[in-house]
Amino acid sequence: MRDLSIDFLGFHCKNPFFLAASPVARTGEMVCRAYEAGWGGVVTKSISLDQDLPDHGLSPRFVGVRSGGADHMLQRNYTGMGNIDFRIDMPVQETFDGFARAKRQHPDHMLIISIKCQYQKEDWQIMARRCADAGADAIEACLSCPDSSGLPVCCSAEAVCRVIGWIREATDLPVMVKLGGICDSVGAIAHAAFAGGADAVSGINTLKAVGGWNPTTAHMMPTVAGETAVVGLSGGMIKPTAQYCIYEMARRSPGKPLSGIGGVTCGLDALEYLLLGASTVQVATQVMLEGYGIVEDLQLTLSNYLQETGAACVGDIVGTAVAQVQPSTGALSRRQQLRAGIDLSKCIRCGRCYVSCRDGAYQAIQLDGDRLPSVDRSLCAGCGLCRIVCPVPGAIRYSDAADETCVRDGLN
Ligand SMILES: Cc1cc2nc3c(=O)[nH]c(=O)nc-3n(C[C@H](O)[C@H](O)[C@H](O)COP(=O)(O)O)c2cc1C
Repeated sequence: MRDLSIDFLGFHCKNPFFLAASPVARTGEMVCRAYEAGWGGVVTKSISLDQDLPDHGLSPRFVGVRSGGADHMLQRNYTGMGNIDFRIDMPVQETFDGFARAKRQHPDHMLIISIKCQYQKEDWQIMARRCADAGADAIEACLSCPDSSGLPVCCSAEAVCRVIGWIREATDLPVMVKLGGICDSVGAIAHAAFAGGADAVSGINTLKAVGGWNPTTAHMMPTVAGETAVVGLSGGMIKPTAQYCIYEMARRSPGKPLSGIGGVTCGLDALEYLLLGASTVQVATQVMLEGYGIVEDLQLTLSNYLQETGAACVGDIVGTAVAQVQPSTGALSRRQQLRAGIDLSKCIRCGRCYVSCRDGAYQAIQLDGDRLPSVDRSLCAGCGLCRIVCPVPGAIRYSDAADETCVRDGLN
């Protein structure tokens, strides 16, 4: 395994992989086990003052979400998760004490305590001081919780900067602010946050969503006494939106410390965040589904990538893909014109390329009497749809419109 260590907010971590604020980092005991499993650091579940209220947390609070309907999360074909898990079921001091113990037992692992407050200076300052007392290495200020009827703080640069200022007044700890994917311009808000004194920016939080309908009970899910509420959506479904946000932040604030969060399900997902400018990557949902052990795949994939590319350290690859992404299509070359070619030796005659091209693209694919497809290169726009729907890897290849060698190579 290559050396995967990084420096983040002045702390040396053995790798860039962190637990994200969520039930996976709800107690000090869980944090210790995560460190021992190999995580480079932990962002705790957000501590909030309402944990001291006497009422119970919600039950149930999770729903598995998949395209084509929502169902129970143990079904393997889910693509996301909805939750209404908006606080820790434990008194505030007990929670801080647990995290403090974890830090004392693992002084060489980074502990970032997440806090969440109403938009009130005194509350943020009380909680920030308690993070310092607990021995946190940094604070993540959750400004993007989806459980509010109005817009969260992260939608206003001015409000974000005000919270940063309040925390700064109360403690010397590094401050990371956690933004959401719903702001109009997440890159501009992150830029303002850095200008306003943030040491790092993380994102994204869960996205507001509706969890789906259970046809057996005829209730919306997760069902709490016959009703539900707006959920926070996480997991694979949100990865493209979350990566867009990190890309926007990296583009607007190059070289600044960013922590990418959202939809990491495997090592490749995590690597993408690093290439798009994140210095660290956080994971919640996939750990909830598969446990702390997934960090091994994250580390192995990163190590292999460093090996293959000859990069000296993780820092060398951070942000290397940002320049490949243009903020809009206007900047892309129109000169590249591709055409599809079908390798009949691999074709299984399923007809999916034909149907999709006929009803969703340029009517360039025909089927013969034996259901063998062929491409009319004069109609093909090289859009890529047939390759997406084709179930056989490598059966559809693209080549330059002017290049007829694919036809000579036997591609149909
Ligand atoms: C059950 C659950 C609880 C969460 N609680 C918090 C929280 O307390 N504070 C916070 O900032 N984010 C919270 N999040 C959001 C995660 O930290 C993360 O931003 C989001 O889930 C996207 O990452 P993922 O796709 O890896 O889950 C929670 C997420 C889940 C799934």
